Amino acid sequence: MAQSPEPDTTPHASRVPVWTPADWPCADAAAARRIAFVPMAEADLDAVHAVEKLAYTHPWTRKHLADSLTSGYPAVMLLGETLPGEAASPGRTDGRVLLGYLVAMPGVDEVHLLNITVAPAHQRQGWARFMLDALVLWSRGQGAQWLWLEVRQGNVPARALYESYGFVQVGLRRGYYPAGSFQREDAVVMSLSLAARGHGGEAP
Ligand SMILES: CC(C)(COP(=O)(O)OP(=O)(O)OC[C@H]1O[C@@H](n2cnc3c(N)ncnc32)[C@H](O)[C@@H]1OP(=O)(O)O)[C@@H](O)C(=O)NCCC(=O)NCCS
Repeated sequence: MAQSPEPDTTPHASRVPVWTPADWPCADAAAARRIAFVPMAEADLDAVHAVEKLAYTHPWTRKHLADSLTSGYPAVMLLGETLPGEAASPGRTDGRVLLGYLVAMPGVDEVHLLNITVAPAHQRQGWARFMLDALVLWSRGQGAQWLWLEVRQGNVPARALYESYGFVQVGLRRGYYPAGSFQREDAVVMSLSLAARGHGGEAP
């Protein structure tokens, strides 16, 4: 996850296309429930931030999420229908479950993944990989050649996800993240070539 973003006032922000809601048939994990990608809106921020606080030791603030929307960054939620016996996520009036979300920032020929989060109750069911699949398709559609991201060096699940997906380490940012008690943690910089077949990436 990138450090929390500042509002982006550069011209590209207003031209970033919004991801439109779409039912998205999914293999494997999604087979049991219907899901949809829905653009994140101001009204969703309390629910998204509630998940953010559950998922991270150093979560984005609600303002960081709001600034991403203000900047026009593509931000989408992965929502699912409830399964029998399952409650809808707090604050959702449509009766759906917030499975996860991501925030990205388009660049000239790359897309920077700023945040990808799966709600703890729904982790290890393939949702992050599924969101990455969607991001890859969308990014290719924007003409992007690369996906970029930073991840805490000690974030074992996320690094395992990215490595298994084909991202490769291309750098290290020393002391990039706050780590509590005046400590800092390094960020591993990773990229994925969108030109490569499948998910296999090459370092630029
Ligand atoms: C990292 C995160 C997004 C993964 O989401 P997820 O939906 O559980 O991941 P998936 O089920 O799609 O897993 C895909 C692969 O990632 C790896 N992986 C995911 N979670 C893992 C874990 N806890 N331990 C080891 N490997 C893990 C595995 O290779 C997994 O494949 P497998 O299940 O076939 O072994 C999720 O743990 C999360 O939201 N964590 C907190 C927020 C965060 O750290 N985000 C990333 C910021 S850079």
